[in-house]
Amino acid sequence: MSDTNNQGSQSQHIHYHDPNAKFDPPERLIKNAHIKSFTQYQQMYEQSINDPELFWSQIAEQFHWESQSSGQFLDYNFDVRKGPIFIKWMEGARTNISFNMLDRNVEKGLGDKVAFYWEGNDPGDHGKITYQELLEKVCMFSNVLKGLGIKKGNRVAIYMPMIVELVICMLACARIGAVHSIVFAGFSAESLSDRILDANCCAIATADGVWRGSKLLNLKSIVDKALEICKEKGKPVATCIVVRHMSVLSEEASSDSNNVGEAPDESPVGKRPCKKLKINWQPGRDHWWSDLMKTADKNCDPEWVDAEDPLFMLYTSGSTGKPKGVLHTVAGYMLYAAATTKYVFDLQPDDIYWCTADIGWITGHTYVCYGPLGNGVSGIIFEGTPFYPDAGRFWAVIEKYKVTKFYTAPTAIRSLMKFEDNFVTKYNRSSLRILGTVGEPINPEAWLWYHRVVGNSECAIVDTFWQTETGGHVITPLPAATKTKPGSATFPFFGIVPAILSDEGKEITGPGEGYLVFKQPWPGIMRTVFGNHERFEITYFKKFPGYYTTGDGAKRDEEGYLWITGRIDDMVNVSGHLLSTAEVESALQEHDAVSEAASVSHPHHIKGECIYCFVTLKEASHLGELFNDELVKELTAAVRQKIGPFAQPDFIQNAPALPKTRSGKIMRRILRKIAVNDRDIGDTSTLADETVIDTLFKLRPKDA
Ligand code: WTA
Repeated sequence: MSDTNNQGSQSQHIHYHDPNAKFDPPERLIKNAHIKSFTQYQQMYEQSINDPELFWSQIAEQFHWESQSSGQFLDYNFDVRKGPIFIKWMEGARTNISFNMLDRNVEKGLGDKVAFYWEGNDPGDHGKITYQELLEKVCMFSNVLKGLGIKKGNRVAIYMPMIVELVICMLACARIGAVHSIVFAGFSAESLSDRILDANCCAIATADGVWRGSKLLNLKSIVDKALEICKEKGKPVATCIVVRHMSVLSEEASSDSNNVGEAPDESPVGKRPCKKLKINWQPGRDHWWSDLMKTADKNCDPEWVDAEDPLFMLYTSGSTGKPKGVLHTVAGYMLYAAATTKYVFDLQPDDIYWCTADIGWITGHTYVCYGPLGNGVSGIIFEGTPFYPDAGRFWAVIEKYKVTKFYTAPTAIRSLMKFEDNFVTKYNRSSLRILGTVGEPINPEAWLWYHRVVGNSECAIVDTFWQTETGGHVITPLPAATKTKPGSATFPFFGIVPAILSDEGKEITGPGEGYLVFKQPWPGIMRTVFGNHERFEITYFKKFPGYYTTGDGAKRDEEGYLWITGRIDDMVNVSGHLLSTAEVESALQEHDAVSEAASVSHPHHIKGECIYCFVTLKEASHLGELFNDELVKELTAAVRQKIGPFAQPDFIQNAPALPKTRSGKIMRRILRKIAVNDRDIGDTSTLADETVIDTLFKLRPKDA
């Protein structure tokens, strides 16, 4: 990614970086750190993998268990040859995660401590909520859910902006044993309906709308469309709860006096009024959050659930194109979220911890909500974007709240380092201690800028590798213990046993590169794909029996450091959002003019990767006329509409034919070469027709 050097930044970019250069843990972190040295890490690591039961039962001691298990602490099968895959931690023990996040902290005397600061999209909009207040709201909303007939095990969809009600809703589901299924509020109506239908959700919670930067999104209208699709498919959703975030009612809504009217401001946080938003209202189905909360009781006993009962599901792209509902269970996820947050961010009681991820993704689940609350720290929920009102927003928020631990994505870092360093340095960042990154490989230039400019060369950088499926960090430095190398996620977290496999499935023990797999379960690993256990086994356990396969490649260097090399399946990581190429292709294929489409990953200097599509039109003979800018616009819109704006392809090229093997399989390896204009395409002997390659090179878009 060397072109980041040419983007006009005022900082002195390092043009050459020695991949073995190491950064020591900052001296000032060590004294109070939970893990003070690499030796201490190694000792604890050995214990965690040799005696997982002892290690994790010690961590479990800080939580409340309504009753203990009489059975095995850990029971599992990781080998498809021996029977079905299963993973069970503490089965038979009973607990409740909302109790552990809230009541337990209040009992410990943290009632008046701020659980979350809320920072709105607009810098003037902010608020806060204490642990005691959050507990009260969660109890009230739990009673609301119960009043609507929602029971243990039911699935509740959540499609919300980054507001405190989102966390209230998650914890209320958990309190009554319902399973939340959050869909990032950037997905289209169609994607949302797919997820609601797959999970068979009985209710959805949303907000009227939200500002994202200077763009207004009418979330309720997207939900309306999604619910319309569910109804058409014979699975209507009975209940839709709407948070009034924008504060202006539509004429249609206000004309129905039974359901709306002047709802009191029940939100714990500020609002940004908007005169433009109109929403529709379906009496009977739609309820204002604030109306329901008005009469709700402030006490709600938690439902004591089994350690292995489901907590939530979260969809992630699958290589077949159909998203997978990754299912996490209560106890293991709780232990793992809390332990990784504590050790990787070296949490201290006075921390102000800020993870910028949207709760709609796994990073937000674990490191905005459950991890920080499990440790009783004060976190920040940020509704805005890094660029609004300008590219200094992140650093302004850090100054405003005196943030100590900050966690964001390489794509944000890369896009912010294009601006003058002054955008960062004009804000006081002296509170910062640890800077984290997640979601995609971070290039050394971005790592070094983050370290030097944002962190003033005084902070530890933690490059955390993990997945929706892993529940929490699996490969990561520990800030006061691990010497870091820019671009390397370094070493495994407690309980994680990584291996690198060759194509033949042989473990590469020394330095080398191959498939990244894990050899034994940790508490936070997913338990199944919702409604499709076979797909869970095939996706993660079939290729290399006996191992969990991540789908990522990794290399181990001479010193044992692990470097993630990226996905090795048909997945594209766009700005840290995983998409399957099949998903994009099927959106393109729905266009009338398209006969066939193939999409591949293409490097992008900000997003890390972007999507490059090859499209074969139905009437190949009229190609010249048919394939024009207008069509490209339509195809782009089709992908945005089908999946969501973040999935928009960067390049769409005309492909009169696609390179295929004699058996008809598209050779994506060749398409990837064409996308980057690399003529060194290697062996083409299996191609059915070699002439297509030349044509495709000629038809590359000029800006690609
Ligand atoms: C990628 C996000 C390199 C990887 C938590 C993984 C990373 C996928 C890193 C999971 C990292 C995540 N270095 N690659 N530090 N973190 N990835 O499920 O390809 O949205 O498989 O979870 O992101 O994406 P997901």
